[in-house]
Amino acid sequence: MLKLGVNIDHVATLRQARGGSQPDVIKAALACEAAGADSIVAHLREDRRHINDADVKKLRRLIKTRLNLEMSIAPEIVRIACSLRPDQATLVPERRQELTTEGGLDTRKNFKRVKEAVSALEARKIEISLFIDPDTKQIEAALETGAKIIELHTGRYANAKTSSERRRYLLEIENASSYAGSLGLVVNAGHGLDYQNVSSVARIGEIEELNIGHSIISRAVFIGLARAVEEMKMLIG
Ligand code: PXP
Repeated sequence: MLKLGVNIDHVATLRQARGGSQPDVIKAALACEAAGADSIVAHLREDRRHINDADVKKLRRLIKTRLNLEMSIAPEIVRIACSLRPDQATLVPERRQELTTEGGLDTRKNFKRVKEAVSALEARKIEISLFIDPDTKQIEAALETGAKIIELHTGRYANAKTSSERRRYLLEIENASSYAGSLGLVVNAGHGLDYQNVSSVARIGEIEELNIGHSIISRAVFIGLARAVEEMKMLIG
């Protein structure tokens, strides 16, 4: 069965808006697990704009499923990951100005640095996934780094403006999945997947896990908002 990794970065984004401790990121992770999430995904960005060092330490200690740490290949972050020892590390590109991860990791261009990060993390028995575009050359480079898992970037498909564009990008993901699968790589996918566009990707046979964040946290606001208002009315009534 297809697994779901839930990215909780946006719970931390909401917390950072007030700089306090609410909403509690760990409680959110435990709620995701209780609802069936197969792993918890958190991105420790170099600028610590949402998830911070204390969060990942607590997540490591308290979650019962798997911790998938999204991270850049910056030496400081690789050092932290080696000492944290998440179950899995997903290597992503990172630019300080971006709103979210834009495009996959260019494993070809950064081959030496990616391979060094993969080796360092693997030596600590951390499973490595490379977040790459659905592109043959990137898949081949990923395999050469020694990583066993790739996560295909579904952003182009998710952001497609027309149905023909969407079909074209879906085909790209399908082809990339079957090629990577034929090379023996474990194939995951994510980015921009929501309640409208997820089904076509979920049907791709080779894909084992989807990692989804923004749409789930956004939907949670609407599923929970009425109850939150009712509870407050009760308290003040
Ligand atoms: N996978 C990776 C590697 C990501 O960088 C992100 C965004 O943090 C996601 C999945 C989740 O993307 P979204 O929040 O758009 O669902």
